[in-house]
Amino acid sequence: MNDAAKLIYDGKEYVFPIKRGSVGPSVLDISRFFQESGAFTYDPGFTSTASCESSLTFIDGDKGVLLYRGYPIEQLAEHGDFLETCFLLLYGDLPTLKQKNEFVPLITRHTMLHEQLIRFYQGFRRDAHPMSIMVAVVGALSAFYHDSIDINDPKQRVLATLRLIAKMPTIAATAYKYSVGHPYVYPRNDLDYTSNFLHMCFSVPCEPYDINPVLSRALDRIFILHADHEQNASTSTVRLAGSSGANPFACIAAGIACLWGPAHGGANEAALRMLQQIGTPDRIPEFIKRAKDPNDNFRLMGFGHRVYKNYDPRARIMQQTAHEVLNELGVRDDPLMAVAMELEHIALNDEYFIQKRLYPNVDFYSGITLRALGFPLSMFTVLFALARSIGWIAQWKEMIEDPRQKIGRPRQLYTGAAPRDYIPLEQR
Ligand code: ACO
Repeated sequence: MNDAAKLIYDGKEYVFPIKRGSVGPSVLDISRFFQESGAFTYDPGFTSTASCESSLTFIDGDKGVLLYRGYPIEQLAEHGDFLETCFLLLYGDLPTLKQKNEFVPLITRHTMLHEQLIRFYQGFRRDAHPMSIMVAVVGALSAFYHDSIDINDPKQRVLATLRLIAKMPTIAATAYKYSVGHPYVYPRNDLDYTSNFLHMCFSVPCEPYDINPVLSRALDRIFILHADHEQNASTSTVRLAGSSGANPFACIAAGIACLWGPAHGGANEAALRMLQQIGTPDRIPEFIKRAKDPNDNFRLMGFGHRVYKNYDPRARIMQQTAHEVLNELGVRDDPLMAVAMELEHIALNDEYFIQKRLYPNVDFYSGITLRALGFPLSMFTVLFALARSIGWIAQWKEMIEDPRQKIGRPRQLYTGAAPRDYIPLEQR
């Protein structure tokens, strides 16, 4: 195997070292190319560019494989739990029983929010999208926890990480409670991570709330599925923000802002809206036709992925989870499930989708599941943000601890005006 690649540019030969990963594609190290040749490489959307070295998550898009620290997502979703997954992503291996027993209380110790932070919520309109509240409140954590924003202090980095994992459910649930006008519910540290989140979202002071373990387990699995996903748009945003030395909470707020877009985390909300708009299976052909029309910007939401050119493994688990949740709730014939399954069947057998290798992604079935669990549409992306926070902070930590880390600063192909002289106003 070669350990270098050659490129001829303007008659001169350049040699690039090849770096090989443990699995997956190799990379050509072009970091010295500009210095040596005066030219940049061009890759809008980063379709061929590795922005960093990472040992957290691996995706094989052709085979539909997703690994967290080497463990297949299917095994983690079946046997693991979310906090174990957090430990795995942060520290590189699954915790022993002793490590888990020490880790869980470290998280639960930080579940409450500063009382003054809770007052922030009142500054928002009641109809504010909860994602806008998330961006603001998570960013504001840096104004409240001054003892965990020095990125050069490893102890502070750990504290910021624990606080983020612990407080995201409280921040998300409080955003939800504010939107429905209910009193805020304080965390209960005797409950497990996900049951506590359900308690903060759905319990009210006037009656008891029983947590259904099947539903809590289903949501925990959804959190595992969303925990990390390589250098996706929001994770890259967190890394880029962090590369300037910004504090972790500011970086995570940037990640949340990026996640909100419908091409990314906002797709779960958009996918459910689409299923509602389709309404009945007989209307599917009309929407398939629109998705294929190059003059119509309509896309099948929850379909297609930059990396997966095969079935997204998370979508498969999500589909099973959707059935499990509907079953547990006694929903026999969910009309949206019927539309989703038929839509998937038709799309997977349609030449357009086959040829472009478009398959359901994690968002296709997540909306149906989250709606059945009782969450309104506007909370779907918030739940994604809650779960993805561990991936963001673990990637941020990996970046800060990488001795080669430097500020992220892409270059450009400039196509604007060439140098010209200023023309006084009266002469224009
Ligand atoms: N419906 C119909 N056609 C599609 C779809 C879709 N959902 N997705 C891609 N295509 C078509 C495009 O029109 C394009 O066709 P063309 O080559 O004739 O121009 C081709 O497939 C390639 O699409 P790109 O947009 O170039 O692919 P890219 O990798 O940039 O985009 C993305 C991936 C953004 C996920 C895209 O598939 C999409 O918009 N899907 C719908 C939104 C969605 O579900 N997003 C969630 C992603 S997963 C996540 O963030 C958790």
